[in-house]
Amino acid sequence: MFDSYTLPSGVTLKNRLILAPMTNFLSEEDGRVSEKELTYYKRRSRGTGAVITACANVNTQGKGFDGEIGVDRDELIPGLKRLAEVIHEEGAKAILQIYHGGRMSPPHLLPDETPVSASAVPSEREGAATPREMTAEEVSQTVEDFKQATRRAIEAGFDGVELHGANTYLLQQFFSPHSNRRSDKWGGDVWQRMTFPLEVTEAVKQAVREYARAPFITGYRFSPEEPHTPGITLEDTMRLVSELTEKGLDYLHISLRDFHQSSIREEGDGSSVIRQIRDQIGADLPHVGVGEIRTKEDAEKALETVPLLALGRELLIDPDWAVKVEKGQEDHIVTEMDMEAQEELVIPEPMWSKIMSVPGWIPRKV
Ligand SMILES: Cc1cc2nc3c(=O)[nH]c(=O)nc-3n(C[C@H](O)[C@H](O)[C@H](O)COP(=O)(O)O)c2cc1C
Repeated sequence: MFDSYTLPSGVTLKNRLILAPMTNFLSEEDGRVSEKELTYYKRRSRGTGAVITACANVNTQGKGFDGEIGVDRDELIPGLKRLAEVIHEEGAKAILQIYHGGRMSPPHLLPDETPVSASAVPSEREGAATPREMTAEEVSQTVEDFKQATRRAIEAGFDGVELHGANTYLLQQFFSPHSNRRSDKWGGDVWQRMTFPLEVTEAVKQAVREYARAPFITGYRFSPEEPHTPGITLEDTMRLVSELTEKGLDYLHISLRDFHQSSIREEGDGSSVIRQIRDQIGADLPHVGVGEIRTKEDAEKALETVPLLALGRELLIDPDWAVKVEKGQEDHIVTEMDMEAQEELVIPEPMWSKIMSVPGWIPRKV
């Protein structure tokens, strides 16, 4: 867990633990990094090999949350620079997660109050707005916006970007047969539906070649399956994964609710999705696992399958988790939120109220 790890690009992480990307609702209304956001990241960068930031929107149409960090304009670079510095001060590598919310963006955050997506199909969640189908020009412009976002991350001093192709957002929407019903070059069978994610990946890699002066990390996060029909199947994902392995990435980040979960669509032999993907990828392209890792034993077990592990809620509850484990103080790890400790844990408002308002999301001390 505490051995260093060198990624294919040549960037070395001091250990195998990563702060998972978590939206914090703490940025300024215009997408600038805020002071309280800096204190939040500083508090939970210590002890990890890398910090993946909350998702940052690559253009105004892609904003998905109130208080979301933006990477859509050059004027945001100075704030992003401060963020990378704060993470570096604690000894971790800084990875900016870049994304577009697509049909999941709430209308009130958007310029014309209408979300866009691959096709005009709303998500299955209750009350979801029907998006407008993106024009071919908009799709091409969005590919370019991911490239420019990567340039800004490089200029701000980040060590890498993670393409957020998971959790139902635009990259996933293009890959999914639920949200992508297009008949142009960005839609069709499973291979055609990966055109947009692969074009974005190439554009990001192109930005790295053009602008990075030092080794720079490019990761890709995806959700292996969707629960609904039509929806992404594990078979579809295996095909995407084989294409992604050709793109010169540093890692694939498999977004799962529970690290060890088996397929949510297929009966199969019950083997975990992450093992199936690992067996498909082989050891050449590192993968990052995530989901319900709470204790040292949980982490050790997971690291038998993957070389890198991301922790999300556990580092909200106990930002000293990695430091404690490294010092052999695992008995002091806290695994349920201390409701009296908001200030000490540095989870500023409105993040605190937002995460506590979702029943069962954050385990709490009673
Ligand atoms: C408050 C919160 C915000 C999140 N925001 C993001 C995000 O911006 N991008 C992302 O890819 N995943 C996001 N996630 C998912 C986490 O990265 C992670 O996959 C999930 O919480 C499961 O890991 P855990 O059990 O260690 O928390 C978020 C999770 C939480 C709890």
